[in-house]
Amino acid sequence: MKKTIQAVAVISALFLSQAAMAQEAAKSATVSDAEGHIRIINLYDLEKEASTRVGKGAFGYVQGGAEDEITLRGNPCAFDNKKILPNGLKGIEGADLKTKFLGIDLASPVIIAPMAAHGLVHKEADRATIRGTQKAGTIMAISTYSSVPIDEIAKSAPGAPFFFQLYMSKDNAYNEYIVKKAKAAGAKAIIITVDAGTAGNREADLRNNYNYSIPTPNVSEFYKDKTMTQSESRALRKISFSGEDIRLIKRVSGLPVLVKGILSPEAAETAIVAGADGIWISNHGGRQLDGAPATFDMLPLIAKKVNKRVPIVFDSGVRRGTHVFKALASGADVVAIGRPALYGLILGGSEGVSDVFLHLNKELTTTMILAGTKDIAEVKKYKLFDPESRK
Ligand code: FNR
Ligand code: LAC
Repeated sequence: MKKTIQAVAVISALFLSQAAMAQEAAKSATVSDAEGHIRIINLYDLEKEASTRVGKGAFGYVQGGAEDEITLRGNPCAFDNKKILPNGLKGIEGADLKTKFLGIDLASPVIIAPMAAHGLVHKEADRATIRGTQKAGTIMAISTYSSVPIDEIAKSAPGAPFFFQLYMSKDNAYNEYIVKKAKAAGAKAIIITVDAGTAGNREADLRNNYNYSIPTPNVSEFYKDKTMTQSESRALRKISFSGEDIRLIKRVSGLPVLVKGILSPEAAETAIVAGADGIWISNHGGRQLDGAPATFDMLPLIAKKVNKRVPIVFDSGVRRGTHVFKALASGADVVAIGRPALYGLILGGSEGVSDVFLHLNKELTTTMILAGTKDIAEVKKYKLFDPESRK
């Protein structure tokens, strides 16, 4: 009798754990299909809301950073080191956010950073994202690891401006193929990412057994391998870079080339000397080298070195209109957002993405009016207050 009870207990435990595992697997596979406007109080809140709408593995991949996440946490905090002096005596009643970047008209100086695997979190994937950025009047940067091939993304939003982010392969035949394809699809610039030759150590992914099994059509189509995944594509990635890589991509694409992942004046100089048409300051949103400084702390030093020879894009940790303001006042020409745009995608598809930009623009408008700056040119000339030096 006792034995029978024990056997039943073991069998039901087995069934239970199998059921729990199946449930967990189903949860992991949860992909949002939301489409519609979202209510935004601030961008920090979106992270929490989005966390309940997709699988744990996918969310951990998006939200997480490398190792102790010191850099991830440090990014938004760094903006607190500088202050904005209010100025209500300028007679300003509105703010004009419009600007241009590489000759492209933008509704505001905020664009979207390249991110892999939009399809991990939303059924419409990069197709919804580009419709969202088009609605918001901004530029989408499409990742090498987009979930939808680059030409298909372009076709989802005819006329929408976009850049193509290149993870250079060790195989130059592939590099040449993909940048030519990006150009034919309408890309306005190529962004070479140089801070991810090897992937950062992200413990959320280890904990969740996240295995980068998401397909990467931009890579797999070249190798005629329908099942090629992000982890297999990563294995082909070039590990270290030199000026010759920048020259090669400029030559074969005939497009402006921006170098992303710059975090020091020296690296900016190397890229410019090699012919880079723009510098993209980034620490990959704290996903790569933990312990790297916050991008906002490095921005003034890099901007000084660049000295307006080429435009500067700035990302990592931008969550507020005040952050956009402070970055522009410190030398950035445009600012890019990463994760918040994916949270908008999770919660509201293309409208959600667009709402994230509109929300940031609203905060930026408030900041500009209160600071007495009527347009982006004035923000770029604005002098922030440094409490440390009292200047
Ligand atoms: C990224 N990032 C990134 N960068 C890149 O050059 N190519 C890529 O494929 C990816 N993929 C990617 C996936 C996900 C899920 C995230 C969150 C980020 C980095 C991205 O372009 C950008 O530098 C950071 O996301 C900016 O930081 P915030 O705004 O997310 O704090
Ligand atoms: C990432 C890579 C794809 O940050 O850039 O996950």
